[in-house]
Amino acid sequence: MVESLTGNTWKAAERVAHLLQQERWTITGLSKVREPDYAAIQEAEIILVGTWVHGAFIFGQAPWAVNSIANLPAMRGKRAAGFCTFALNPGKSLDTLDRALGDTGAYVIGGFAMSRSKLDEHTEEFAARLVTAVEATDDVAPAEAAEAVEAIEAVEATEAVEATEAVEAAETVESAEAAGTV
Ligand SMILES: Cc1cc2nc3c(=O)[nH]c(=O)nc-3n(C[C@H](O)[C@H](O)[C@H](O)COP(=O)(O)O)c2cc1C
Repeated sequence: MVESLTGNTWKAAERVAHLLQQERWTITGLSKVREPDYAAIQEAEIILVGTWVHGAFIFGQAPWAVNSIANLPAMRGKRAAGFCTFALNPGKSLDTLDRALGDTGAYVIGGFAMSRSKLDEHTEEFAARLVTAVEATDDVAPAEAAEAVEAIEAVEATEAVEATEAVEAAETVESAEAAGTV
């Protein structure tokens, strides 16, 4: 999915898609982040999100429309990678993008900030890195991501129970003390 104002990010996405097809990947869809192709997302194992960097060039940089990522459907069990295109300096745009992608529940396997003046070189490098990252996480990533989420939820649930039990136990001791039975 792409967010593009003047076409650089869209061009980068098309190029990455083309390179990945050469690696025998199937591209389930290419859409705007704000008009997501839900069927393509559901079908895909890996979600790529590209956007352009907006800011004051040397400060305040952020991936444009990062908030629309929060409106994407939950992507637990899928892997995701972000990329952005920039002119001078992307700042921490990629970190922001990674966090937004992680918040969808996806397992983030990397990202890439591409200089708009080096799109050919940088799209190639991104596609190559993706192939490696996906191979490295093929068996483990989705299962591990889902397990990690379940484990966290289980711990949180136990903590809540334990906290309630601890309060109840303290109250019992206190009332026993007050009654002089201990
Ligand atoms: C309003 C505006 C603000 C921008 N701010 C930055 C910036 O802070 N840092 C930077 O490196 N590039 C900045 N750029 C450049 C774009 O990020 C860059 O040209 C990008 O490749 C545009 O992608 P697009 O063609 O997909 O819209 C800015 C561009 C615009 C139009």
